[in-house]
Amino acid sequence: KLSSVVKIVEVGARDGLQNEKGTVPTNTKIELLERLSSAGLTHIEAGSFVSDRGLTRKSPKWVPQMADTPEIIKHLRSNPPAAPAGVTYSYLTPNMKGLTDFINHSTSNTGVSVSEHASEIAIFGSASEAFSQKNINCSIAESLERFRPVARKALESGIRVRGYVSMIIGCPYDGSTSPMKVAEVVEGLLDLGCYEVSLGDTNGVGTPGTIGTLVNYLIKDRGIPAGRLAAHFHDTYGQAIVNCLVALEAGIRTFDSSVAGLGGCPYSKGATGNVATEDLVYFLEGTGVKTNVDMDKIVEIGDWISRKLGRKNESKVGTALMAR
Ligand code: HMG
Ligand code: MG
Repeated sequence: KLSSVVKIVEVGARDGLQNEKGTVPTNTKIELLERLSSAGLTHIEAGSFVSDRGLTRKSPKWVPQMADTPEIIKHLRSNPPAAPAGVTYSYLTPNMKGLTDFINHSTSNTGVSVSEHASEIAIFGSASEAFSQKNINCSIAESLERFRPVARKALESGIRVRGYVSMIIGCPYDGSTSPMKVAEVVEGLLDLGCYEVSLGDTNGVGTPGTIGTLVNYLIKDRGIPAGRLAAHFHDTYGQAIVNCLVALEAGIRTFDSSVAGLGGCPYSKGATGNVATEDLVYFLEGTGVKTNVDMDKIVEIGDWISRKLGRKNESKVGTALMAR
């Protein structure tokens, strides 16, 4: 039963690469995306339509990493993957400019309307005021107002909208986050029309205790259907897999992960990447949940991209399997 309903959202090409200091060539990103779909991943984040200035006064070098998203979208549009189930690509769009750029780049030179592309957008808020300011340069309340026309226009255009809420457990600037605040932002995003809200433990501080309390509060006390929530856990403290188990037990069936555990967040000091896709797949399959992801292929991709980036492979499973 579990097998048919578990969805993995591969975020390595976006969350994973956005923090890389050196510019990753567009061809490498495209090769990464193509390899990921050939490994059986069906939901893949492919880039961001964010400001290449943005908050860049403080950190001028990382947002430009996503500046080639238009080229990537163009490539993916004209080379749709042959995966049997098809692939949905998603893109972060924090404001109307991001959405407009996404739509223009999705439709230019084609007679195809944007709703016919299997792609979707994501709007991203925070449960911590300080992180909201640092990440998207506005308060939480302002962000929901800013997202409103974005979600409306996307839905009118036939584009599905995903939501994110960051810092669900704690924030390096504001300290611990109250589950009530997380619930307010999740409900705010669902009210705007998000089909799903991804719960971001951005800095990986959550434990089975705090994650368990939060997800049970959201689902049982606030009545938010588990099917509208996703787990987006970073592995900074080595808790991501066990936190995924807690989320699975609470009824959550969508998990975000990044190949080789790529990633980090420039506005969250010391934060590392997401739970590695290899580790997530190994955990799920070992727990009796079928994922349809090809383990050999994903391990190979993790090894390849880590070498390309000159990074240590952060996946324990990937490292173990490569050593055999
Ligand atoms: P702002 O500076 O307040 O924006 O940034 P603005 O509207 O005042 O515009 C300033 C300039 O940026 C203007 O340029 C705009 O045109 C331009 P100028 O006229 O001065 O030349 N601009 C844009 N350019 C391209 N694309 C756009 C765009 N919007 C404005 N969409 C803004 C506000 C939200 C734009 C900025 O703060 C931003 O881009 N932030 C994004 C930061 C980001 O990408 N963070 C990482 C993703 S979130 C994450 O990783 C967490 C997650 O993984 C979950 C988790 O782990 O918790 C999702
Ligand atoms: Mg993240």
